[in-house]
Amino acid sequence: MKVLLIGATGTIGKAVERALSDQHELITVGFRDGMHQVDLGNPASIQRLFETVGKVDAIISTAGLAKFGPMAQLSDADFDLALQNKLMGQVNLVRIGQSYVNEGGSITLTSGILSRHPMPGSSSIAMANGALESFVRAAALELPQLRLNVVAPAFVKETMAMMGMDSTHGISAADTSKTYLAALSGSHHGETLDVTDHL
Ligand SMILES: NC(=O)c1ccc[n+]([C@@H]2O[C@H](COP(=O)([O-])OP(=O)(O)OC[C@H]3O[C@@H](n4cnc5c(N)ncnc54)[C@H](OP(=O)(O)O)[C@@H]3O)[C@@H](O)[C@H]2O)c1
Repeated sequence: MKVLLIGATGTIGKAVERALSDQHELITVGFRDGMHQVDLGNPASIQRLFETVGKVDAIISTAGLAKFGPMAQLSDADFDLALQNKLMGQVNLVRIGQSYVNEGGSITLTSGILSRHPMPGSSSIAMANGALESFVRAAALELPQLRLNVVAPAFVKETMAMMGMDSTHGISAADTSKTYLAALSGSHHGETLDVTDHL
């Protein structure tokens, strides 16, 4: 399959690329790196990406920015980042990208477990995650020609280590990538796929 992987240069994206590259033709996209660049916060940039790349069999997004931090310290701009980048950036991947996916293909987005298992500091991320999961459930009803799903990763070991946290209970990026593989090759539609269910 020809797979457009957005966020390919990130912690989860690199693992997804490694997991898929044997069997699929990957087009990697980052913000600064990758074969192509896109700014999820800018719909014109998303439109340009699809016009450049053309039709694909699948779109996978492992991108989406949102700020972690105590709610009282999050600014309007911090909440706006979650809304414009993580939420609307991925919603726009579906709105714009749906006409670039071949019949029977799929789109897989990324939310996160914080939508249903929040922790202090997660208010803006959880807001975007929950909205994405609801969007996918509803939008799938209007997309009979393709499958639309969202993967909800748990805390990734490599990310926890990078943040100086104890990563004992994290899930490696390689294990996280298995859920994207399940979304790509399975029959799910309109679903939130928890990484913890696909280990
Ligand atoms: N890591 C975790 O523990 C964890 C847990 C739950 C959910 N998630 C979610 O999983 C997703 C990926 O997380 P990650 O840790 O792999 O992220 P990451 O390592 O920070 O990678 C982010 C990726 O997104 C790209 N990117 C940055 N700004 C962008 C923009 N404005 N437009 C388009 N792409 C942009 C980056 O490209 P460049 O490298 O070119 O800048 C990179 O490919 C995020 O939605 C995150 O919320 C992560």
